[in-house]
Amino acid sequence: MPFTIFTIVGARPQFIKAAAVSRAIRNLYSSDLTEFIVHTGQHYDSGMSDVFFEELEIPKPAFHLHVGSASHGAQTASMMTALETLFLNEKPDLVLVYGDTNSTLAGALSASKIQIPVVHVEAGLRSFNKAMPEEINRILTDHVSTLLFTPTQTGVENLKREGFGQTENTQVDANHPLVVHSGDVMYDNALYFRKLAEEKANDWFRTLGADNGFILATIHRNANTDDPNRLKSLLTGLSNASKYLNQPVFLPLHPRTLKMIQQFGESDAFFTDLASRNIRILPPASYLQMVLLEARCTFIMTDSGGVQKEAYFYRKPCLVLRPETEWVELVQSGAAILVDADEKRMQEAVAFFSNQEYPAPDGFYGDGKSAEFICGEILQMLKSQKDSANCGT
Ligand code: UD1
Ligand code: UDP
Repeated sequence: MPFTIFTIVGARPQFIKAAAVSRAIRNLYSSDLTEFIVHTGQHYDSGMSDVFFEELEIPKPAFHLHVGSASHGAQTASMMTALETLFLNEKPDLVLVYGDTNSTLAGALSASKIQIPVVHVEAGLRSFNKAMPEEINRILTDHVSTLLFTPTQTGVENLKREGFGQTENTQVDANHPLVVHSGDVMYDNALYFRKLAEEKANDWFRTLGADNGFILATIHRNANTDDPNRLKSLLTGLSNASKYLNQPVFLPLHPRTLKMIQQFGESDAFFTDLASRNIRILPPASYLQMVLLEARCTFIMTDSGGVQKEAYFYRKPCLVLRPETEWVELVQSGAAILVDADEKRMQEAVAFFSNQEYPAPDGFYGDGKSAEFICGEILQMLKSQKDSANCGT
């Protein structure tokens, strides 16, 4: 009998990360591992959810919790209530969670409390800023996980500092968690989907009229969206960069940010007239559309974790619209510059990058086969747990 894995997803980046591991299970491990996708419903607009299932060959969710939006506590609690019942009924062999969203935390807490092993993909990342809800989600998820896959060596070091010692594959269980440096499944996807993006999204791209260069920007962190002064400063910085480079800014907009721009626009004309600043708001892009935007732009300016890395995959200079990042190797290598929401720092970074070659070497995020490696390690753990259980009976 194959082992059963319940994969918990709910937010846009998790659909994308899950695509890589699902593909590896399907292609290489289908006789040993059976995956069931559980969609919490954290993201629910079709452009934030369905489109990724359609494009990225992810199995349709076997279970959908439809939790929708709410405050952090209410949202996480309703996910946990539903997940606990599901896990008790279905008894998966393990629960797989990705990244650092409320769906990640809900999956990890619900499973660990009823002794189902938790596997965390994208473990060990730290911004060292607990004002980020994601930082709290990451720390708690790591500390209830049994198998922790870090995308970077920095992730391994961060976990060692928090007391994770074991790196040899001996006994692995909730009290003896194993940390493994796997590389980053998002890099697997960047390699895998590039050609398909050229085939499937090129007609859409041509409708943008982007032939003479453009800046790609994304903004969705709560720290940036919920404070009108920060949001205004970011948009002014984008507009200044557009003038300096003589290129439009394309801003595929997260629904959270769109709502805030509309809300602030009711009392402040700045927010209603972004087109005159050469900022073009687009609906959230599909993944394949995003690949073309990233691969063909001149600059990327973002507060997204995933988009920072994709800038590096496509060798584009990146301005990180945050005070810090957990992807420290990007900043240390010079591939990205932290500019926060500071117009002046944005201007300086654009000028700096305009006058130099792309600085960073390849290789920070693995070899493009991280998902296969992760599946192999998961199977090894499940087999050895089964063997020990059989020895004990
Ligand atoms: C969440 C994650 C964040 C991740 C991001 C990816 C948490 C705490 N945050 O942030 O780490 O980077 O997803 O995109 O889990 N909304 C819609 N339609 C949707 C989804 C959201 O309109 O399909 C609006 C709602 O007004 C909602 C708001 O966006 O209240 C925020 O959504 P939520 O999922 O709570 O957080 P994100 O900002 O998307
Ligand atoms: N992404 C997308 N469409 C968009 C913006 C982002 O497909 O309009 C993809 C992006 O290419 C990356 C992932 O979503 O693969 C990053 O997710 P997001 O920025 O929502 O969250 P974060 O990575 O910050 O948690």
